[in-house]
Amino acid sequence: MATSGNPIRRIAISTGGGDAPGLNAVIRAAVVSALNRGWECVGIRDGYDGVLTPERFPEGGLIPLTADRVRGITHLGGTILGTTNKNSPLAFPTPQPDGSVVPVDRTAELAERIGENVDALIAIGGDGSMEIAHALSRHGLRVVGVPKTIDNDLDGTVLTFGFLTAVAFATECLDRLHSTAEAHDRVMVVEVMGRYAGWIAMSAGIAATADAILIPEIPFDLTSVARKIAERDRIGRRFSIVVVAEGAYPKGGEHSLVPGEPGRIERLGGIGEKVAEGLRATTGKDVRTVVLGHLLRGGTPVPMDRLLALRFGAAAVRTLAENHCGVMVALDPPEVKYVPLDVATRRMKAVPLDCDTIQTGRDMGISFGD
Ligand code: F6P
Repeated sequence: MATSGNPIRRIAISTGGGDAPGLNAVIRAAVVSALNRGWECVGIRDGYDGVLTPERFPEGGLIPLTADRVRGITHLGGTILGTTNKNSPLAFPTPQPDGSVVPVDRTAELAERIGENVDALIAIGGDGSMEIAHALSRHGLRVVGVPKTIDNDLDGTVLTFGFLTAVAFATECLDRLHSTAEAHDRVMVVEVMGRYAGWIAMSAGIAATADAILIPEIPFDLTSVARKIAERDRIGRRFSIVVVAEGAYPKGGEHSLVPGEPGRIERLGGIGEKVAEGLRATTGKDVRTVVLGHLLRGGTPVPMDRLLALRFGAAAVRTLAENHCGVMVALDPPEVKYVPLDVATRRMKAVPLDCDTIQTGRDMGISFGD
């Protein structure tokens, strides 16, 4: 990992990818820690758009981050800087002389432009943002990454902030759905986000004692879920709760996708309704689908997410102050440490099938559809 002896006087902060509760807490902790070291801070608008397309921001693509600007934001969802999960600088849609628009890697130019303004960058984001951070670091910019995502799928850190808030909200929703499911003898299929990892579905599903949990790591067979529902019917439990991760897919089948908007290839979505249709046909029961979607990303971070976000923000500044860069701060309980960015971006962190949480579900009779 890179180090540099030049003193830091000014840093930039960016937030990229889908928002997650705790982004503002990271920004506040990083800014306050930096100001206390005598550094200046600026925020880049909307990921890196503030630098790459400054014309979009009449008020400026860089926002001065003063003590006043970050006051009272720790508990707020969203991000005061704005964010985007489109138009990655690694494949930035760039108009060509012939009128076509082609994806161009603009990270070298981005590193240069950021480097003209500041001495270092704190890049807050998920796997895509860490890949960009890694590229910027290879182009010579001093970068420290901060892992964010409700999906908890980033390798190199035990937890990403935002995940616990998403799990808390999903768990509350599942608790609420129990009573209405029971009142109507229904099957409630609840689709949760998480991309290609099942962390949210598994954690909320077990915490709320769902009857079946379908995650991408375990391709499912609906007849096994239908059997579980029938078993419950036989013992007089005529309702069931089935949690489906958006990335879950049937054995021998494929992920359920919806078309992406310009700048995005595709999005996961629709598996909840497909599971519901299948269960309706096989069980003959009333089945309803609830898609929690972006509700999981909104709202105030739970205290442990706030705390983690504050720890990450302060640790990112300490890391720069100790002259380390090209790294991502990471939770390695009980400490926040850092790992090289190439470790963080090496692979997705999937739910390990032999983990005790899955085993807990199995011991409690929860079906994983296998
Ligand atoms: O990565 C966070 C996440 O919320 C995923 O769980 C989900 O698949 C995706 O972002 C949704 O993206 P968008 O906000 O573009 O719909």
